[in-house]
Amino acid sequence: MKRIVCLISGRGSNLAAILRTAESERWATEIPAAVVAVISNRADAAGLAVAAAHGVPAAVLEHQSFASREQFDARLAEAIEAHRADLVVLAGFMRVLGGAFVNRFCGRLVNVHPSLLPAFPGLATHRRALAAGVRVHGATVHFVSGDVDGGAIIAQAALGVLPEDNEETLAARVLQREHVLLPRCVRWLCEGRVALQNGRVVTRDLAADHLALLG
Ligand code: GAR
Repeated sequence: MKRIVCLISGRGSNLAAILRTAESERWATEIPAAVVAVISNRADAAGLAVAAAHGVPAAVLEHQSFASREQFDARLAEAIEAHRADLVVLAGFMRVLGGAFVNRFCGRLVNVHPSLLPAFPGLATHRRALAAGVRVHGATVHFVSGDVDGGAIIAQAALGVLPEDNEETLAARVLQREHVLLPRCVRWLCEGRVALQNGRVVTRDLAADHLALLG
């Protein structure tokens, strides 16, 4: 059984998408995978209620309570290891993780980001995409490396930017795509169909599913 730990900071809609998909696709029986814990770095994260609604144990580890990034990272790593995690999913986790943490979970740490990386790493991605005038935008799921929003790309979902789009409408359409993209990637990782080898993504029997995802 692949044990998944999700890290969140806020709303938790990507967490909800993973948990809904896991339930509707009967992951625990159809594929050996289960979300065993949720950890938030914010006590007020709405995603904590999402975890509770799905019966997944959730914990809060507030980064403000720690004197340094390294101390927070170390405690977070311990909490994750206590759940014997095979895969750690950053599902709207808005805290930069240091090099020691990233190295410790190398190859089993993935993130969803609301842009077509390497375009628009960091914050305010939709506003920046609109300001740049791009006509295609989207979301990326990638392995986490030492560079913020860097790391080998697993899959992306693209959509057209409409002339009448504003930050809210664009964010909403990208988020819908994230909710399909992230659970698919998590499933592929748990099935052993995607892995990180020597800094590169390797896949097995993924072509048809990947094309279906691209639409
Ligand atoms: C999502 O749009 C996710 O891509 C983004 O935060 C949002 C979290 O929403 N993550 C990042 O920007 C990471 N760099 P959610 O809490 O509803 O899943």
